[in-house]
Amino acid sequence: MEKILLLNIILAGLSLSALAANTNNAEKAVLLTPPAPRAPRINGPLVYGVRPGSPFLYRVPCTGERPITFSAKNLPDGLTLDAHSGIINGKISVAGTNRVTLIAKNSRGAAAREFRIVAGSTLALTPPMGWNSWYIHYNRVTDALMRQAADQMLASGMADYGYQYVNIDDCWMKKKNDPPFRADDGTLLPNYNFPDMRGLADYIHGQGLKAGLYTSPGPWTCGGYTGAYEHEMQDAKLFADWGFDFLKYDWCSYGDIAKKADPRLTNSFATPAEKNLARYKFPYELMWGELQKQNRDIVFNLCQYGMGEVWKWGGDVGNSWRTTGDLGLQKKSKLPAFYGIGFKNALHPEAARLGAWNDPDYLLIGWVGDAHGMGEGKKTALAPDEQYSYMSLWSLMAAPLIFSGDMAKLDAFTLNVLCNSEVIAVDQDPLGQQAKILRQTDNELVLVNELEDHGKAIGLFNLAPEPSKISVTFSDLGVAGKQTVRDLWRQKDLGAFTNGFSAEVPRHGVMFVRIAGGK
Ligand code: GAL
Repeated sequence: MEKILLLNIILAGLSLSALAANTNNAEKAVLLTPPAPRAPRINGPLVYGVRPGSPFLYRVPCTGERPITFSAKNLPDGLTLDAHSGIINGKISVAGTNRVTLIAKNSRGAAAREFRIVAGSTLALTPPMGWNSWYIHYNRVTDALMRQAADQMLASGMADYGYQYVNIDDCWMKKKNDPPFRADDGTLLPNYNFPDMRGLADYIHGQGLKAGLYTSPGPWTCGGYTGAYEHEMQDAKLFADWGFDFLKYDWCSYGDIAKKADPRLTNSFATPAEKNLARYKFPYELMWGELQKQNRDIVFNLCQYGMGEVWKWGGDVGNSWRTTGDLGLQKKSKLPAFYGIGFKNALHPEAARLGAWNDPDYLLIGWVGDAHGMGEGKKTALAPDEQYSYMSLWSLMAAPLIFSGDMAKLDAFTLNVLCNSEVIAVDQDPLGQQAKILRQTDNELVLVNELEDHGKAIGLFNLAPEPSKISVTFSDLGVAGKQTVRDLWRQKDLGAFTNGFSAEVPRHGVMFVRIAGGK
């Protein structure tokens, strides 16, 4: 019988499990992510999609002491890199894969990294990363708060790890009780909190970041603001003209249209199931078609809470799709809500691929609002170990990493959860796979993801209310021989193991590792 080698995790940070108690207050917030080196380290995705002819904008995510001087080898024709800011701008006119080498230098050293720029039809080759206004600003969102979020994305260092999208959620248009909603020619009107949408997008772009917004295929958004119904063509063009790069399209009042069947959906259907599916898909297909016509790349995020088994078709008409209801609205259970949402999202690994991702909703940590009644923010009630589990789970599931807490109140612990380059690298792995469930019981969850370099990322999640030992054998993982196991949170090799490994995992916590794997 194979004897599993026991990992003796007496690492500095693991006073955590010793301290683990039944309340999160008793758990010490230990920063597991080591500080970034002073020499440059280039982070972010290894592969990036753009359509030929679209404006290209990419700020090289890079940690290390400033000033850093950036350069690149084999940058395709049409692109230029600003040596000081690391922002790449321009336009690629020819389709194809460009293997660029990004280089960053400072007084402490230098880093070089390959970056594949794929000029083709697919965007979001890796899951989008950024911030969304919903869970902190709700209907209080303003132009100034969006600009503040963009500033903070740079100032906090999040942009140096690949966070890029600065996205307005609901509540930026005119509300139902505040006509007119559109100008005489049908042009959509923002509300008084957003006096200059183009100026806002320009401001965000000026930081090397991307701008996103939100609307609904229905006449009204979920918050009761103007939606795109019967104005899809006009609105898509307006969003592109303003300069937005990301659109979240939230079902909301479209439900009333779909119930009776959208009068524009004229096809005849062979079966009721086909008809049903068409009703779900139609509004997304319509807007997706309009977005393709724009001279700008707009990543498309479907939000319809998993209806009509969206994971089976979301990738035909969008870049990501919410698989569940709102995370912030989930009822209390034994485990924190992200676990319940994560369990559902984890059921569809086969759907994820480059440019098409399951979306389990935002990262609700840090200083974050109360979705019930759109309350003001407060410090997350999640224990430190729960937050490490949340981020690990999202990363293993190749989920969009969209933080939705207060950008103005980021603290060191929240940033250590959001900004671990090795944890993020699993999410952004260029193979584009989502982890599969290796084992799930009431007390544990083991997820395994295949990586491009033939390695594997493995999450051992302890769902029990007390610390517990969780094991995995190499035969279960389909690997043999000696394997070097690396702890991703601590960014530390744990040694070479022969038959498997196990770890003492704190309550609701995780041991997140990577092995080089067999060929
Ligand atoms: C919900 C959506 C949330 C948020 C909200 C805005 O339907 O799932 O993420 O966008 O609407 O009203």
